[in-house]
Amino acid sequence: MKVAVLGERSPDESRVVLVPSTVPEMAKAGLEVTVVAGAGTRSHYPDEEYREAGATVVPDAASALQGAAIVLKVQPPTAEEVAELPSGCRLVSLLSPLTNADLVKSLADANITAFALELIPRISRAQSMDVLSSQATVAGYKAVLMGADELSKFLPMFMTAAGTIRPGKALVLGAGVAGLQAIATAKRLGAKVEAFDVRAAVKEQVESLGAKFLETEDEVTAEGEGGYAKELSEEQHQRELELIADHIKDADLVITTAQIPGRPAPLLITEEMVDSMRPGSVIVDLASESGGNCAVTKMATTVVHNGVKVIGPVNLPGDIPVHASQMFSKNVVTFLKEMLDEGELTLDFENEVIEATCVSHAGEVRK
Ligand code: NAI
Repeated sequence: MKVAVLGERSPDESRVVLVPSTVPEMAKAGLEVTVVAGAGTRSHYPDEEYREAGATVVPDAASALQGAAIVLKVQPPTAEEVAELPSGCRLVSLLSPLTNADLVKSLADANITAFALELIPRISRAQSMDVLSSQATVAGYKAVLMGADELSKFLPMFMTAAGTIRPGKALVLGAGVAGLQAIATAKRLGAKVEAFDVRAAVKEQVESLGAKFLETEDEVTAEGEGGYAKELSEEQHQRELELIADHIKDADLVITTAQIPGRPAPLLITEEMVDSMRPGSVIVDLASESGGNCAVTKMATTVVHNGVKVIGPVNLPGDIPVHASQMFSKNVVTFLKEMLDEGELTLDFENEVIEATCVSHAGEVRK
């Protein structure tokens, strides 16, 4: 069964959906991998490595797509790419289904059975398929490095002949997958770390990483479905803002990661809070693509506000493409195995993972 690995056409995407080391695992599962030449170049996986791993490398997307039963990509396909997909094939990719109904409709119209990797359910069995988690790990790590690089201070404590430097203070807002990785990375760099999340369940995880979990006198919690958060009531939101205002003024580095699936990111840092920070401090807003957690954030740029740098990065996993692709690839291969039975393609909507992720099939929009 032919699997086409397409390259990413967006100049902002340097990841590749499948890395050479996963090709033998695909072959074992009965899948023949065909890769468009250069698909892995920007993530430093040369065509030669794909060939050595047993894949066929073809000159263009049209050759890869001819006769392909399964098509793999990282980013949602453009309208041009949708038009090139063979009718009846399966597409496995990020699809932003909650905010991109037009794309899902166009896939259904083109008779593509499409699976949105964002919709992998948050159950133990599916952890190894969850690209949101693996890529959030990369983003949380990179956000701290980026912030540390922009800081006008050290993060670690130094005791030197030239005097003692006190450790920097980091504040992490949103302690999900990216936030926990940001906490761990800031701790490794020697910072004193505080963190807050509206899911009380993460307190223990935050503390196990050696950070302090911030708490309000009256509890602020908003546990949503499937491990996600939901929006806070206005009153709880105000309490949260007061808590953050109290702590942010002493922070040197702030990493924000708070997201609500399918909704704009919650506003956690007002302009006044940024004003209260010391010049030379840095905010890295990982929610910039969904509106930002900070009022000052501008997506894909760095704003300097009263001497505080507010960074709104886009696609941080793409900045660490070797490992981000390796993790993405492992997630995708594990997911593909869900739809294989002794080398034959299956489509079992009784299977929770297949049911949750399949957004279009047989000309119909399913989600
Ligand atoms: P996310 O990217 O949707 O959100 C990031 C964090 O922001 C979350 O921890 C959320 O609680 C927090 N947040 C939302 N609104 C906030 C606010 N107003 N103030 C402060 N924080 C706010 O979430 P993520 O990181 O993708 O996953 C959240 C959790 O889901 C994980 O920590 C884990 O418990 C669970 N999970 C389970 C998986 C599985 O079982 N397969 C896989 C991945 C995650």
